[in-house]
Amino acid sequence: MEVSKRIKRLTESPIRKLIPVSDQVKKQGVHVYHLNIGQPDIQTPQAFYQAIGDFNQPVLAYANSRGILPLREAYKAYYKRAGLSFSTEELLVTNGGSEALLFALMTICDPGDQVLVPEPFYTNYNAFALAGDIEIVPIPTNRDTGFSLPSKESIEALITPKTRAILVSNPGNPTGKVLDADEMKLLKNMVIDHELFLIADEVYREFVYGGAWRSFAEFTELSENLIVVDSVSKRYSACGARIGVLASKNALFIKETLKLCQGRLCVPTLEQIGSVELLRDTDTTLPPMIEEYQLRRDVMTDMLKKIPGVKYHCPEGAFYMIIELPVADAEDFVRWMLGEFQDQGETVMVSPAKDFYKTPGRGISEVRISYVLKKEDLIRAMEILKLALDAYQAK
Ligand SMILES: Cc1ncc(COP(=O)(O)O)c(C=O)c1O
Repeated sequence: MEVSKRIKRLTESPIRKLIPVSDQVKKQGVHVYHLNIGQPDIQTPQAFYQAIGDFNQPVLAYANSRGILPLREAYKAYYKRAGLSFSTEELLVTNGGSEALLFALMTICDPGDQVLVPEPFYTNYNAFALAGDIEIVPIPTNRDTGFSLPSKESIEALITPKTRAILVSNPGNPTGKVLDADEMKLLKNMVIDHELFLIADEVYREFVYGGAWRSFAEFTELSENLIVVDSVSKRYSACGARIGVLASKNALFIKETLKLCQGRLCVPTLEQIGSVELLRDTDTTLPPMIEEYQLRRDVMTDMLKKIPGVKYHCPEGAFYMIIELPVADAEDFVRWMLGEFQDQGETVMVSPAKDFYKTPGRGISEVRISYVLKKEDLIRAMEILKLALDAYQAK
């Protein structure tokens, strides 16, 4: 029996593919600091569990395919507090931002179509695109220029008759890049001029350090072009809830995407009920969380400074860094550090960065680090990384 050529083109996620190795060393009693995945250690607000605990219906029924109305109303209110305007009809609740991304691509692209994405990019963009025979066309960005967008002309040169959209994560995973006002305006004007969609992945919207955050939804002139991808995962430290949303003023996009929502019936009912409570409160939960991540970001840059040969750019948002290590093949190093190196019974897991790039040859010496652990753990993890690099180079 054969499987499809399409599925064979997909590769395993670099964020998760080394989990069997970490499971193995954990079985031997080794403690692993997980900096490979964007799984925060911050407590999920109690209100989420309370709402689920209070559920007292005799039947756990299917929910509306668009998402339960109280959740869409809670999202509408959250956006309003943020100065953004979406009606409940302009929202579709999804299984996390992940399903929102997949559905957005399926709705707007035919097989063979192209989507421009600043590179390096969240690796699953490529997985979702490949699942629909869609081609990601990278817009190269570099650490030396702070992952800023290249010139308008060089981006426009990538647009072809097959280009359907620009997809951007802002703040960026894996770079921590926050687009400045000029870059946002550039993308806004480009999608309007070239009649493209703009898929704005804003799951880290408020995670901006030392500046105000901005949303593409502030540009009212974008209305037809804009698809916002959102999620409770990071904002409320509720990754396992699997609740996300698609927000768009493009009525045709919502109408057509609803077919996919209907096909998968609904998003889990209890998690939707719990998420209503999460969305009620951003004023008390978010500021301390952002402060904590800024502190962690500062700890990371302080520690990385002390490791010879490591190159990084100080991230402005989200909770990721893409760093160059003084090794020829970062994947080999990561595998070795996890499986064979330990210091006092402890080691570190990070993600090899090659698959965050589409351009051949890029990212080979790089890893992505998620600074999702508390300060003490980050300090210890960076000490281990330094020791591991010394030992690897001495091999
Ligand atoms: C940029 C970006 N978009 C979307 C997602 C999907 O998150 P979820 O499906 O948990 O909402 C992630 C998860 O790490 C992400 O980093």
